[in-house]
Amino acid sequence: MNAAYILGIETSCDETSIAIVSQTKVLSHVTASQIKQHEAFGGVFPELASRLHTENIGYVLQTALKESKLSFKDLSGIAVTRGPGLIGALHIGLQSAKMLAARLHIPLLGVHHHAAHLEAARFVQPILYPALGLIVSGGHTELVYMPRPLSYELIGQTQDDAVGESYDKVARMMGLAYPGGPIIDQLAQTGKTQYTLPLPKAIGTFDFSYSGLKTAVQSLIQKEQQAKRVVNPNNLAFDFQRLVIQTLIDKLQLALKTHHVKSVIIGGGVSLNRELRKQASRLSEQTNIPFIFPPTWACTDNGAMIALLGAEMLKAGMIAPLDIGVDPSWEIQASSQK
Ligand code: KG4
Ligand code: ZN
Repeated sequence: MNAAYILGIETSCDETSIAIVSQTKVLSHVTASQIKQHEAFGGVFPELASRLHTENIGYVLQTALKESKLSFKDLSGIAVTRGPGLIGALHIGLQSAKMLAARLHIPLLGVHHHAAHLEAARFVQPILYPALGLIVSGGHTELVYMPRPLSYELIGQTQDDAVGESYDKVARMMGLAYPGGPIIDQLAQTGKTQYTLPLPKAIGTFDFSYSGLKTAVQSLIQKEQQAKRVVNPNNLAFDFQRLVIQTLIDKLQLALKTHHVKSVIIGGGVSLNRELRKQASRLSEQTNIPFIFPPTWACTDNGAMIALLGAEMLKAGMIAPLDIGVDPSWEIQASSQK
């Protein structure tokens, strides 16, 4: 089973991505991004996402196979995102995966999208267990304790908006393009503190909350407009980002006091954020715990992380029956090895 070639399919949101992976070696990785088509809506438009996945998946599959220089008969398993995500979008990936697995008589692996975001750290170095995982994406903000591989305990999550969602919404208020996260990150590089915004507070010890901060940004923009003052985008981006990242770091710091771990993994689209990486490396130095980020190319949605986790699931015998369905709100702990 060592040199197993696993094909991974990701269609949970706005990327149709397929990769073929052997251990941590990526033989091919092809992504059809829909970002341009969703831009006009200021976010992902689910029906359009389903349609575009349907249109693109055949070509993406064919190209991924061609680039790997393998043939279908070389594959040992088909891994696919089963959830969480957009229901229609997930179905397209799962149906294709089922057909491939059935036709090729090879195992089907139903992968949890967030667990795969954390697993992507293995493209850099092995995960040391027990580990603490922070998933920061467009749809979720979750703090996860991982006692061993393939085992997840959700210890904190957002009570309202996800961190990436708050970036995207604030960007929209500022008249910036979608996705707003990378743009705010860029603007903040040359910003300085000017605006007073509230530090987000959540009720649960390890939980997050971003809607209050988002509303505060909205009121601030309105107030400035009424006073006929021009909002400085760099400074607003700086002050907003400073608070968002501070809450993430504060919660990590708190969790490290009660959970004695050997590594911290930060995954999901927002893990590309420069301020987060800077502050995380500071916390890593203070605590002497390695913080592992996936490589830049594997932080946003990709089929390679799905294949990587699928390969581990195959080794553990976590094979899905061909009649499984998608699970749009699948909780990470429910995906743990039984
Ligand atoms: O994980 P991902 O690709 O998709 C989901 O599963 O949601 O994450 C996308 C999110 C978007 O909200 C985007 O604005 C955010 O990641 N993002 C960033 C940065 N790059 C992407 N947010 C902050 N700073 C960045 N550099
Ligand atoms: Zn994602």
